[in-house]
Amino acid sequence: MFSADDITQGLTTGVVGSRVVCLDSTDSTNLRARELADQGTPEGTVIVADQQTAGRGRQGRSWRSEPGTSLLFSVLLRPSLPPDQRVLLTFAAATAVAEAVERVTRRPPETKWPNDLLLGGLKFCGILLEGTLGRAQTGSVIVGIGINVNQTSMPDGLRLPATSLRMVTGAPVDRITLLRSALGSLDRWYASLQQGDAGAVLNAWRARCRMFGRPAVVDQGGRKHPVTVLRLADDGGLVVDHGSRTETVYAADVTTVS
Ligand code: BTN
Repeated sequence: MFSADDITQGLTTGVVGSRVVCLDSTDSTNLRARELADQGTPEGTVIVADQQTAGRGRQGRSWRSEPGTSLLFSVLLRPSLPPDQRVLLTFAAATAVAEAVERVTRRPPETKWPNDLLLGGLKFCGILLEGTLGRAQTGSVIVGIGINVNQTSMPDGLRLPATSLRMVTGAPVDRITLLRSALGSLDRWYASLQQGDAGAVLNAWRARCRMFGRPAVVDQGGRKHPVTVLRLADDGGLVVDHGSRTETVYAADVTTVS
């Protein structure tokens, strides 16, 4: 199990990790973060759970994990960003986790639009942003992060082929070291966004993305279209080429096909 003291030891962040709450088991750390936000918990509060019984994924999906194997955590932020930039926190979080994983495992993760991280083409991390997105300039945003760390196998029937850090490296990974490193990186990228340097965040994310120039399928609520992925737009949308026209997609799953 985790202890808040272990996690905060040596953490030199400005905002992220201002308070750390550790839970053995909860339905969803994003739901706990929402409750604490409503009670006025400080910005940067982190909720970590060893197990989730109703983990939430993107597009209403669930996020399943065996107890004791994953890193499941949520960070409560109150950004002073223009409404259309709050969604960029996904890219800050993905980049932060990718850096932490690379520091700890020496393997460089790829970013997959909009919210996944891959190693060897397989998903090991998903990010779910919840809160006041795209509406108000104020209010809280919850950045929920799930990382497959020490699983030795993956269940069948997942939407995307998946892996864990242990399955990639062949060795167990210390979850607290990884968490501390991810919180440190997230604190720095969050500061970049808050200081108006969204370009640095987007470019760091783009540098890890292998989707550009590749054929892919865009799935918008079950409607599937073949496209070529062109680029990440500055507003976080993905620009794709349908052959006769280009489109910037926002709420979609995009999977490269070769
Ligand atoms: C996705 O890939 O669809 C996003 C998955 C996000 C899962 C994490 S686990 C910690 C946090 N709490 C949740 O209920 N979901 C996020």
